[in-house]
Amino acid sequence: MAGRAHVGASALLAALLAPALLSLLVSPARSYGGQNHGDWEKPPLMPPLPPREDAARVARFVTHVSDWGSLATISALEAVRGQPFADVLSLSDGPPGAGSGVPYFYLSPLQLSARNLEANPHASLTMSLAQTDFCKKHVFDPQSPLCVHIMLSGTLTKVNETETDLAKQSLFTRHPEMKTWPSSHNWFFAKLNITNIWVLDYFGGAKIVTPEEYYNVTVQ
Ligand SMILES: *[C@@H]1O[C@H](CO)[C@@H](O)[C@H](O)[C@H]1NC(C)=O
Ligand SMILES: *[C@@H]1O[C@H](CO)[C@@H](O)[C@H](O)[C@H]1NC(C)=O
Ligand SMILES: *[C@@H]1O[C@H](CO)[C@@H](O)[C@H](O)[C@H]1NC(C)=O
Repeated sequence: MAGRAHVGASALLAALLAPALLSLLVSPARSYGGQNHGDWEKPPLMPPLPPREDAARVARFVTHVSDWGSLATISALEAVRGQPFADVLSLSDGPPGAGSGVPYFYLSPLQLSARNLEANPHASLTMSLAQTDFCKKHVFDPQSPLCVHIMLSGTLTKVNETETDLAKQSLFTRHPEMKTWPSSHNWFFAKLNITNIWVLDYFGGAKIVTPEEYYNVTVQ
């Protein structure tokens, strides 16, 4: 029975994966750095990790290779009002190879996180190289500082008209399906206005990077 169930699951998985594989074969360009997080994992697309002692550069690297992050907000929901609340959100700081360091989001007022942010814009965003192939490849546990992860604190703000094109280009190149999300959900562009940065990239505790140092990094 277990064997048959296994075969059934494999067949189902194959059926689910088939359209994705087909789209990869048909339009490889669409998969470049977007859609499938795994795209970064295939050389030469995933750039090498910067030297660990350059924490600001490492932070910019993690932000840039992350297609998503876990965002903690303060809940406005009756059941857990005032308590921390984390959710996974897609993000992008720019097209592959052209990261600005600014995490942009495409949010709907219908989302729990967006409702929380309306009541309290403070948020904390964490991103990890566990989200790429890096840590598995090097056999680093996600909680190990060797499996580089960063925490960014600040406020989530709507982007203004001037910045909308940049936010849209950053997100839609890495998340093409966003273009098709139902307009009835009133999607809007937002960004994390970073005030504090912690980098866990080696033993000895989190390193503190200032937003000035973070944005000062030039990406080649
Ligand atoms: C829009 O936001 C950008 C980035 O924060 C800022 O530099 C610019 O002055 C803002 N433009 C307006 C019209 O507020
Ligand atoms: C970003 O955060 C800084 C520091 O808290 C604040 O002074 C600034 O007004 C914020 N900018 C926006 C666009 O919310
Ligand atoms: C910005 O980068 C330049 C050139 O790498 C460096 O000399 C300077 O100290 C940096 N400033 C900050 C605030 O990190």
